[in-house]
Amino acid sequence: MAEQRQHIVMLPFMAQGHFIPFIALAGLIEQLKPHCAITIATTPLNVQHLRSSLPPTSSIHLAALPFSSSDHGLPPETENSASISQIDLLPRLMFASETLAPQFDLLLADLTDLHRLPPLFIISDMFTGWSIHIARARRIPHFSFTTSGGFGTSAFMSLWLHLPHRLTDADPFQVPGFSDRFCLRRSQMSHYMRVADGSDDWSVFLRRNIRISLGSDALICNTVEGIEPYGVDLLRNISGLPVLTVGSCRKTETTKLDSCLEWLESHRPASVLFVSFGSQNTIGASQMRALAEGLEASGVAFIWVVRPPYGFDMNSDFKSEWLPDGFEARMGEKKRGLVMRRWAPQVGILSHEATGGFLSHCGWNSVMESLSRGVPVIGWPVASEQFYNSMLMEQEMGVGVEMTRGVVGEIDGGKVERVVRMVMEGDTGREMRQRAARCRELIMAAQAEVDGEKKGSSVRAIDRVFEMAIAGSNDTSKN
Ligand SMILES: *[C@@H]1O[C@H](CO)[C@@H](O)[C@H](O)[C@H]1NC(C)=O
Ligand SMILES: *[C@@H]1O[C@H](CO)[C@@H](O)[C@H](O)[C@H]1NC(C)=O
Repeated sequence: MAEQRQHIVMLPFMAQGHFIPFIALAGLIEQLKPHCAITIATTPLNVQHLRSSLPPTSSIHLAALPFSSSDHGLPPETENSASISQIDLLPRLMFASETLAPQFDLLLADLTDLHRLPPLFIISDMFTGWSIHIARARRIPHFSFTTSGGFGTSAFMSLWLHLPHRLTDADPFQVPGFSDRFCLRRSQMSHYMRVADGSDDWSVFLRRNIRISLGSDALICNTVEGIEPYGVDLLRNISGLPVLTVGSCRKTETTKLDSCLEWLESHRPASVLFVSFGSQNTIGASQMRALAEGLEASGVAFIWVVRPPYGFDMNSDFKSEWLPDGFEARMGEKKRGLVMRRWAPQVGILSHEATGGFLSHCGWNSVMESLSRGVPVIGWPVASEQFYNSMLMEQEMGVGVEMTRGVVGEIDGGKVERVVRMVMEGDTGREMRQRAARCRELIMAAQAEVDGEKKGSSVRAIDRVFEMAIAGSNDTSKN
């Protein structure tokens, strides 16, 4: 039996975009509280996957919660949203995640025995709100973690909880809690949200888990208040919970030998546009051609991570016929453009001084990676809360401009060329880059460990979580 040792448990939702910030937060806690043991609980295949993404020296423990996807009408070995090719199957994974509750309770019992002490607190994904019931029954303090930013989470929460677009035919329409400046258009919603009526699978799962999460002790948010004070304030108002921000700057994952980094070496500072829609999104076939035509016409150098267009299996091989004739060969000459298939070392590319802009789907991890490197964003949001992240960057932060949205949004080569040149060559782009550089400073400062006034906001937020938990675990009146 191990000696008595403070320990905490983290429970992420089973999606790549959620694992990244969970691992970053666990790493920050590990660094700041080296005496505290950290356990991340997830399903067996995700444990395997996470193990490969942790440094070999990491002390973070991974605990597997038994799970069989075929028991839930999912294909075998489907434990992560990344292995779901049809979005309509995602609710099955969502409902399946709720069945982990008894296993999670057993894990807490085992860890309590092992450490001869219950966990000091639980950090649970906002999508695994069901864990609150277990935490409360065991009198363990519970914190909800939203892996998106303040503004994006606020919009996502308010839209799902109130479904305001179902109460009006207006377009744009008002979102409860938001000022008129941020009225939304119907095109700024995923299809499943647009048609949601409260009884569909998406509504049932998300409303249930968001609502329960609002009963947590506090909301931990993956942002830095200085870069989006309005969004964080809004999140405090909309959630009614204390909001603690823990945003940090993800470390570079590449070695110097990467061929695309060598390619970047031959370009001037801030002259290359990086184009990527993330690991789980793509654009329409005709949009893809327009993008290629516009990039070519712009004369701007670029690295583009391509994936099969919408309607094709995203994990299949990319076919040259999806791009204009001879595009790759022409771009290869004089190192104008580099087309990469499937994956690129995104953080390494964004960190390189030659990179001056990021055409992105605006997933929050990509946004934080870009801004923490001082790189402005051309938004092309495709799903989920990406639409609100893009809106935030353009309307509130002044570090982005939206090109188009969705897989059917109108776009032609001329528009692509104009926007790309504006951001990469014009004064507007220069101003955006200056504001992005300011975001970079704020994000770096947030994780400063120095004591006193210089102690960063993310470091203070983690201190605060520990203080609240220690105070809360004495509070026997709470249940
Ligand atoms: C949050 O609520 C306070 C008090 O009602 C209000 O003054 C403030 O403007 C709100 N913030 C936002 C961003 O809506
Ligand atoms: C909680 O209990 C510990 C140990 O019993 C004690 O040292 C600490 O002061 C208490 N904290 C609060 C906020 O009551």
